[in-house]
Amino acid sequence: KVEKPFVFVIFGATGDLTKRKLIPAIYALAIDNLLPDNFYILAIGRRDYTSEIFQNLMEEAVKDYSQRDFEKEVWNGIKGRITYIKFDFSAPEGYLLLKKHLDIFSEKGIHNHLFFLAVAPNLFEPIIIELKKNNLLSEGNGWKRVMIEKPFGENLEKASELNNILTDALPEERIYRIDHYLGKEMIQNILTLRFSNSIFEPLWNRFHIDHVQISIPETVGIGSRGSYYDRTGVLKDMVQNHMFQLLAIIAMEPPVKLDAEHIRFEKIRVMRALRPFPDNLSDSEIVLGQYTEGIVDGKAVPGYLQEEKVDPNSRTPTFAALKLWIDNYRWQGVPFYLLTGKRLNRKNAEIAIQFKESPGVKLYSDYACAKPNILVFRIQPYEGFYFQLNAKKPGNYYEMMQANMDYCQTAEYGNNSPEAYERLIMEAIRGNNSLFTSWDELNVSWRYIEDLEMKLSRNSVPVYPYPAGSVGPEAAVKLMENDGRAWWNMDNSINFCTR
Ligand code: BG6
Repeated sequence: KVEKPFVFVIFGATGDLTKRKLIPAIYALAIDNLLPDNFYILAIGRRDYTSEIFQNLMEEAVKDYSQRDFEKEVWNGIKGRITYIKFDFSAPEGYLLLKKHLDIFSEKGIHNHLFFLAVAPNLFEPIIIELKKNNLLSEGNGWKRVMIEKPFGENLEKASELNNILTDALPEERIYRIDHYLGKEMIQNILTLRFSNSIFEPLWNRFHIDHVQISIPETVGIGSRGSYYDRTGVLKDMVQNHMFQLLAIIAMEPPVKLDAEHIRFEKIRVMRALRPFPDNLSDSEIVLGQYTEGIVDGKAVPGYLQEEKVDPNSRTPTFAALKLWIDNYRWQGVPFYLLTGKRLNRKNAEIAIQFKESPGVKLYSDYACAKPNILVFRIQPYEGFYFQLNAKKPGNYYEMMQANMDYCQTAEYGNNSPEAYERLIMEAIRGNNSLFTSWDELNVSWRYIEDLEMKLSRNSVPVYPYPAGSVGPEAAVKLMENDGRAWWNMDNSINFCTR
């Protein structure tokens, strides 16, 4: 529980993120009794609402989007603490009004402020500049922290510009750049599984691991985000941030301590060791795709080029399969395969570690049935992990089978494990930024992706069409097959959590 009172200031309070994630997260933290008795929310938006209208809208949002049951008493406790302020983020006058509100809290002894920027990226800069001008970011009596939604810049240049403005206004340790994957329960569990079980770490290297697969297939399309997505594409939307974070956590060395400084230090070392793609790209390193119309979850859906606000001749990829190499001592020669895409046949996020085959000694007549051991981190929708072993089938004859050890956290703990934003807001209030991305990580990952995009355009790499609801382009399946491997659970036939 946080003891010190604070004010949560939301810029972009009338947007989707506030109603779907932020307010439900605050509600869940209140249900778990993790918030101090004295906290307040200042919600800033451009719409002409009163505090009462806004509070009622948020009540509906909690009922619609929270995973927790609606508890009137808890909600009423939050509701009365929300004040809505209307102003235009790019006009200086509004910040005077904000300052007035914050001053009133200060008079009551509440000096800690968490500013959350849930706005379009072009507004990050004016908001930070105005907050700084009005002296709202300097720490006197209490702490002042800024949480900033992705995308952090559209390219390296824009990200650097934004970063300069931020670091000019407040130091790195008070900047909380969100990658919501880092708030997911199982991602945090990866480090625990790796470093608190003595059986894994000795095997976690090129001598015992054949390859690693990280996949985040999605069934959703790009929805109403056409103009953003068409400029961005899958490499910047998913790979540069979420997938690189997963890769770094799987591949990093044990940190000296489990704090932001040490975890980030190790993650950056992994990213720096990523081998740049060759100048001449082929389908054996990267496959890009774009969805065409098809059927997803039994419903006919349009193709990418028919989506709203998408250029009808767009070549923006919505799917990517990549093979990466980490040039360091631990991982030399171990491929890391990444796969992600919109409108695929399945929605999940999984990391499969495939160990090397046991030596092909003919101890068993049906040795061919032995399969390599696989450890799978299941990040969503079911959280848990899964370990595949070889065993003898019971009976008077000899037959081998795979014994699958499946730990389903969702089945054990239900939906009680916190949602990403709950965890992230909580950590920001506690002042722990280990679950947020540092500028150094972003800098390295942006450089890597920009280098790749330059090579892609030079090589005119094809963007293969794939029907919505399929496993993606055939070339992606081949990328694996040509290496003598297969994508883990691509047909979604391995069902977990059936208990
Ligand atoms: C976002 C991307 O960062 O992550 C979206 O912009 C994507 O395109 C989403 O759909 C996936 O997040 P999750 O938590 O649903 O896996």
